[in-house]
Order: sequence, then C-alpha cells, then structure tokens
Amino acid sequence: MPPGRILLVEDEDKLRRVIQIQLESAGFEVDGASSAEQALPLATLADLVITDLRLPGMSGVELIQQFQARGISAAVIVITAHGSVEAAVEAMKLGAADFLQKPFSLDHLTAIVQKVMAVQVLRDENRRMREELDQRYQFDNIIGRSGAMREIFHTVERVAPTRATVLLAGQSGVGKDMIARAIHQHSPRKNHPFIKINCTALPENLMESELFGYEKGAFTGANASKPGKFEQADQGTVFLDEIGDVPGNIQVKLLRILQERQFERLGSNLTRSVDVRVVAATNVDLRAALEQGRFREDLYYRLNVVPINIPPLRDRTEDIPFLARHFVQKLSRELGSLAKEISPAAIDRLLTHSWPGNVRELENTIERSLVLAPAEVLQPSDLRIEAPRAAASVPSAQAPLLPEGETLEHWEQMMIREALRRANGNKSQAARMLGLTRNALRYRLSQMGLESGSEEADTAPGLS
Ligand SMILES: Nc1ncnc2c1ncn2[C@@H]1O[C@H](COP(=O)(O)OP(=O)(O)OP(=O)(O)O)[C@@H](O)[C@H]1O
Ligand SMILES: [Mg+2]
Repeated sequence: MPPGRILLVEDEDKLRRVIQIQLESAGFEVDGASSAEQALPLATLADLVITDLRLPGMSGVELIQQFQARGISAAVIVITAHGSVEAAVEAMKLGAADFLQKPFSLDHLTAIVQKVMAVQVLRDENRRMREELDQRYQFDNIIGRSGAMREIFHTVERVAPTRATVLLAGQSGVGKDMIARAIHQHSPRKNHPFIKINCTALPENLMESELFGYEKGAFTGANASKPGKFEQADQGTVFLDEIGDVPGNIQVKLLRILQERQFERLGSNLTRSVDVRVVAATNVDLRAALEQGRFREDLYYRLNVVPINIPPLRDRTEDIPFLARHFVQKLSRELGSLAKEISPAAIDRLLTHSWPGNVRELENTIERSLVLAPAEVLQPSDLRIEAPRAAASVPSAQAPLLPEGETLEHWEQMMIREALRRANGNKSQAARMLGLTRNALRYRLSQMGLESGSEEADTAPGLS
C-alpha cells in the first residue's frame, strides 16, 4: 500500500508533535495545523485529515462541513474528548470515517489510520479508473462510446496536427460543429482564429466580399477596405459550414485557396497569400450535387482529403445513455433544476425514439424535461419527447405553422427524404407512406434534383 499524506489538526502542540512523529515513523507524510482556519488551505493535498473536534475558532465539525462545501475528498478521522460522544456521532453523520476518543494509545491511532487510509486509497483508485473510463468515451466535451464515434476521435487526433483539409458529413445536429472545433483545438493553430462561415446564410454577392475582403471603392458603399474571413483566419482554421450551398463562381475561388492558398480582395489586383487550414461540413450528400453538376468535382476532391462521416444518432444508440447522462449533469447544473439524475427506465425510453434531430434534439429534450420535472430523478413520464412529426395536426391559431426559420418547401423535402429513408430508397413504398402516387413522388424528386431519370430505377440516388 502506498503511504499517504495526512493533515493533522490539533491545537495542543505537544499532542500534535507526538502524533506527527508516530505517523511519520509509520511511513506517512504529515502536515500539522493548530487550527481549522490554518488547516483549510492544506486540506486539498491530504488523503486523510485527522482533526480534533474542539478547536479554537472554527470547530472540527465546521471544518468537515467546509470540506464538503469545497468538494475536498480527503477521508476524515475525528478526535474527541472523553465524554463528548455526541460530537463524534455528528461528525460521523457528516461522513467522517472513524473517531478516536482521548486518551488513546499511539498503536490504536496507527491501526485506525492504516485502515482508513487503505479504504481511501482504494476509493481514489476507483475514482481514477472511472474517470479514465469516462475519458475514453469522451473527446473534449464530445461524448461517444459507439465504435463509429471512437473511430472519429481517433481520426481527429491523427489529422488535427496536420494542415489536411477535412470534410465532415452528417445530418443536422450530429455534432459537425463540435468536431470542427475539436480539430482546431487539437492543432498547432489553436491559439490563432477559428473562423466559421455559414455558406447558406450569405447571399451570393455578399459571400465573395465576406470571404475574400474588398478594397475601398470596389462597389458602392465600400467606403474603406476590409479583409475577408480568410485573411482574418491567417494561421488559424476556416470552417466552411454547409459547403454544398456555395455558388459556382465562389467554388472556383475556394479551389484556388485550397490549391495555392492565394486570393485577391474584391476590387484589387494584388494577390495575397494566407496560411489557413480548411474544415468543411455538409449535411447533404455532396456526391449527389456532384452528379447533378451543382458542385465542382475538382473542389470536391480538394475538400475530401480526410472525410469524416458522422452517423445519425439512431445508428449509434450505444451513445444515447452516455449523452443523456452527460446532458443531465451539464444542464441541471446550468439550469439549477430540481432534477439532477436520470433513471434507467427513462434511458430505456430514450432508446426507443428515432431522434430525427439527432444529438441536438436529445439535448433539447433533456433540457425541457429537466425544467419541468417535479423530482430529483427524471422518470420516463417526465420526458418531453416530441411526437413524431408525421403525426402533426393543424396548430392552434396562435402557434406558428412551421418551426422558426422553416419553409414549407424544405419541410416537404424533409418528409420525402424521411419516407425514402424508411423505405430504404424504395420509391413505391415511400410514395405510399406519403399518400402520393409513384409519379407524384417522382415529380417532386425531380424538382429536388434527386430523380435519377431512369424509368427502371426504383431507388433514389444519393440517399442511404
Ligand atoms: N457527441 C456529442 N457530445 C456532446 N454533445 C454533442 C455531441 N454531438 C452534438 N452535441 C451537441 O448537439 C448540438 C448540435 O451539435 P452541432 O451544432 O455540432 O451539430 P451540427 O452537426 O453542426 O448541426 P447542423 O448541421 O445543424 O449545424 C450542440 O449543442 C452540441 O453541443
Ligand atoms: Mg453546425
């Protein structure tokens, strides 16, 4: 057994010295303190605290309460005067491991210390192992126990130190943003900017000046020169979100940045160089866009140097219990909610949902449930899982018809994609689910750019 470090709190100098010598000769490291006030700052170092209960100023019991308030995890043995068992009982209730009644023999003291220390060492070992285990299923704050996620962590670790371009693919809410940031954080660029550019949010004419900057007078309203996002990110990382939405003329310029790290500001002939690492993300299948000519093939290959595909949550259900407990812990702290834990039955309930909104939906569900839960432990009945969207009815007069930022067209496309997914790409089956004829579905698919054109094919391309 490794000897531990002991903090001895005793106001009688002589007794303290005697005990100290005894414990040191038994192999322990011992710090002495003559009051609780003096002991507090030393306690974080100790595996075990031995404290007299009657002390000048703060009492031994108050000292133990302070340990709890500060999350100090040392084991505690209390020393009580003859005839004051009540105080010892109180201390034990607060979690003290044992007590010694004065007068005690030094051999008795040593035996108790060795016993308590052995338990404490085991407990520490246990905690350390548990923490290590948690660490293995976690990368920064990204939780993942499934094989797919562990593989992703491994890839991130290997690729982060390089300048290789990474293409993240996955549905909305699977964690693309988090992974992009983790790549930056684990790279030598971490002390330089991480600049995220949402390629959907920008109208085409603004996008060029946003990305590459402009010179004074380049267009009406350009009253001063301005560097673009790529310049701002010099030596850092640019995260191009929703890369599939980048218009053709910008695709050409991105290709040049990726190939030569060069560009010009709008309204300037001066060629500038930047040192940036590019991470791109897409929640559509870029290969489908490629086939339809909406995305340049050369750019696709430049981006797809290291592809990372993040599967939807329903395809890695092993992650759900870990994510759920992580969110309960994190959000209950942030919200100060009454509920702070989740029951195994509630986790089982979470496992039966299909999570079309992926991890984001799980996180939001846990948050809503925590806010409204009436007790300390979340039960299945406390879970506010949204009803499947297919069962939607007409919202009441005050409620918004569609979620904020949603359009009818996009909504319809989501339904169609979901139907095809459930039907494994079989159009006749998907059409039935949607209450459409096969031809009506084909028409909509062609409008979405997903129709293969071949009358024979019954499977939609680009959907898996
Ligand atoms: N593995 C994970 N561990 C912990 N939290 C996660 C994990 N994956 C996602 N989240 C959380 O879920 C939410 C959505 O994640 P994120 O924004 O990274 O998704 P996304 O793929 O970028 O989505 P979108 O395509 O909509 O931009 C965030 O609040 C994030 O913190
Ligand atoms: Mg995102």
